[in-house]
Amino acid sequence: MDKIHYLDNAATTKLYPELMETFQRYYLDVFANPSSLHKAGLMAEKAVLNSRKLVAGLIGASEEQIIFTSGASEANNLVIANGAFKRAEPVMITSKIEHSSVKKALNFYAHEHIYYLNNDQNGVIFTDFDNMEIESANLITVIYVNNEIGTIQNVKELIKKAKAKGFRGMFHVDATQAIGKIPVDVKDLDCDFLTASAHKFKGPKGVGFLYCKNPKLVNAMVFGGGQEFGKRAGTENVAGICVMAKALSKACKDMAANTKKAFEFKQKIVDYVKASEHFALTIDEDVKQSPFILSVRSDLAPSEVLLHAYADEGIYLSSGSACNSSNPQTSSVLGAIGKAPSPETAVLRISFAADTGINDINAFIKASEKMVSRFNK
Ligand SMILES: Cc1ncc(COP(=O)(O)O)c(C=O)c1O
Repeated sequence: MDKIHYLDNAATTKLYPELMETFQRYYLDVFANPSSLHKAGLMAEKAVLNSRKLVAGLIGASEEQIIFTSGASEANNLVIANGAFKRAEPVMITSKIEHSSVKKALNFYAHEHIYYLNNDQNGVIFTDFDNMEIESANLITVIYVNNEIGTIQNVKELIKKAKAKGFRGMFHVDATQAIGKIPVDVKDLDCDFLTASAHKFKGPKGVGFLYCKNPKLVNAMVFGGGQEFGKRAGTENVAGICVMAKALSKACKDMAANTKKAFEFKQKIVDYVKASEHFALTIDEDVKQSPFILSVRSDLAPSEVLLHAYADEGIYLSSGSACNSSNPQTSSVLGAIGKAPSPETAVLRISFAADTGINDINAFIKASEKMVSRFNK
C-alpha cells in the first residue's frame, strides 16, 4: 500500500497546512492570557477580538453574537441547556436524525417532553408540526446538513412554518456540516442559535462557536471567569480561535471552487454505484444534499469487515457518525430513514474536503472493484 486516500472528512479534516504558522504565532509569540492587563495580554485579547469579528462577518452576525466554545458538541449542549433553563418542564422539538450531542442533551434536559418531526426515506424533515405542542415549545433544534447521509434541510422554511404555527421559542440550527461548505447567513435563516466546529472546515480540533441572535438571553453552563461575555468561562483557546477564523475565511473564499470539485467527485462515485450490482445509494440522487457527503450501501459484507478491507487498500472511510462507525445497525439516522443495514450488509460514508483529489476518487473505485472480486463469492 503506497498511499493513503482519506475520504472521511465528515469525521474530521486535515488542517490547512499554511495555518500552522498562525498556531505557532499564538503559542510562541502572542501566547499571553487575553485577560492579562499587560501589553502581551492585550495583544492576545485583540487577536481574539479580530477573530470574533471575522467569524461573525462570515455568517452575517455581529461580534457580540459569537461565543467561542470547544466545538459543536459543547455549543449544542449550551443551547439545549438554555432551552431547559426557561421552564421546569421544558418542551422541545427536534428531528429523528440529529447528532448525538443534540439527541443526548435533549434526553437529559427534556426527556418527558420531546416531540419528533417526521422525515421521509431520504432524511428530509417534514415541516407540518402536527400533533405537537408547538405554541408552548421552548426550543426547536434541527440539523442543517446531516452528517451521515448528507441531506440538506430547508431550514428557512422550517423556521417560517414554525412561526406561522405559533412557535414563540428559540430555533437552533446545528450547522456543523454546513459551515464553510454551503453559504450560511444567520440573518437570512432567521435562526436564534447556530453551532459549528472548526475541524470540519479544515480548522483545528477542540474549538468551535455558537451564534446567538440575542446573547443577553443566554445563561452560562461553564462558570468561572468572565470570558466570552460571561457566557462561557475558561481561558480562551487563542491559537485555536485565530486559526479557526482564518480557516473559515479560506473555506468561504474557496467555497465555489471546492463545491464544484466535490460535485464532480461525488457524481463520479454515484455513477459507479448506479452501474454496480453490489452498491446502491442510501438517499435518492435528486434530493437536496451536500456535495461533500455520500452514503452508499453494499451487500458485499458487514460494514466493519468492508471498512477494514478498504483500509487495507489505503482507503479511509467510515459508515456514518464516528460514534457508531463500525456498527451502523445502531445508527439512529439510518434507522429513522428505514435503511439500517442488516448484520450482513454495509453502509459506507465517503466524504470529501478541499484537499480531496481525483486520485482519491479513482482509488476508491479501483478498491471497490477489488471488494467485488474478493467478497462476491
Ligand atoms: C452535525 C454534527 N453536529 C455536531 C457534531 C459534534 O462536533 P464536535 O465533535 O466537534 O463537537 C458533529 C461532529 O461529527 C456533527 O457532524
